[in-house]
Amino acid sequence: MAKGKNQDILELITTDHREVEQIFAQIAGASKLEQLYECFNQLYKELNLHSRAEELVFYPALREYEDTDDMIEEAESEHEEAAALLEELKALSPDSPEFQDKVAELKEAVLHHVQEEESEVFETARDCLEPQQLTQLGQEFQQAKTKLEAEIVEAASL
Ligand SMILES: [Fe+2]
Ligand SMILES: [Fe+2]
Repeated sequence: MAKGKNQDILELITTDHREVEQIFAQIAGASKLEQLYECFNQLYKELNLHSRAEELVFYPALREYEDTDDMIEEAESEHEEAAALLEELKALSPDSPEFQDKVAELKEAVLHHVQEEESEVFETARDCLEPQQLTQLGQEFQQAKTKLEAEIVEAASL
C-alpha cells in the first residue's frame, strides 16, 4: 500500500480500522491493570479520532449523493453508540467485571460497523467519487485528525 500524502481516504480508513482491531486484541491480552489502562486510553483516543474525522470529511462527501441518507444516518448513530460506550467505560475501573462486559459490547458494535463500512459504504464511495476525489478526501481526513488530536487527548485524560 502506498504510504504518504497520496493515500486515498479508503486506504487511510482501512489502516485505522486494523489499528483499532489490534488495540481490542491488546486489551483482551492485557495481563496487568496498568497495561489495560494504557490500551483503553489508546482505544479511546484512536476510535474517537477516527469517528470524528469520518463525520467531518467522509460522511458529508457521501451525503451529497442520492440514496445515501439512510446508510449515513445508520453509520452516524453507530458512532454515537460507540462514543457513549467509550464514555461509560472511561468512568469504570478496568478491573471491574462491568468493564469487561462493556468492552465486549463495544468490540462487537465496532466490528459490525467496520464490516459494513468496508463493504456497503466503501462500495458507495467508489461508485460516487472519482479516484482523485478519494485522494483529496484522504488529505482532508489526515488534516482533520491532526486538528482534532489535541482536543481528544485532553478529553481522554479528564
Ligand atoms: Fe471507520
Ligand atoms: Fe465509521
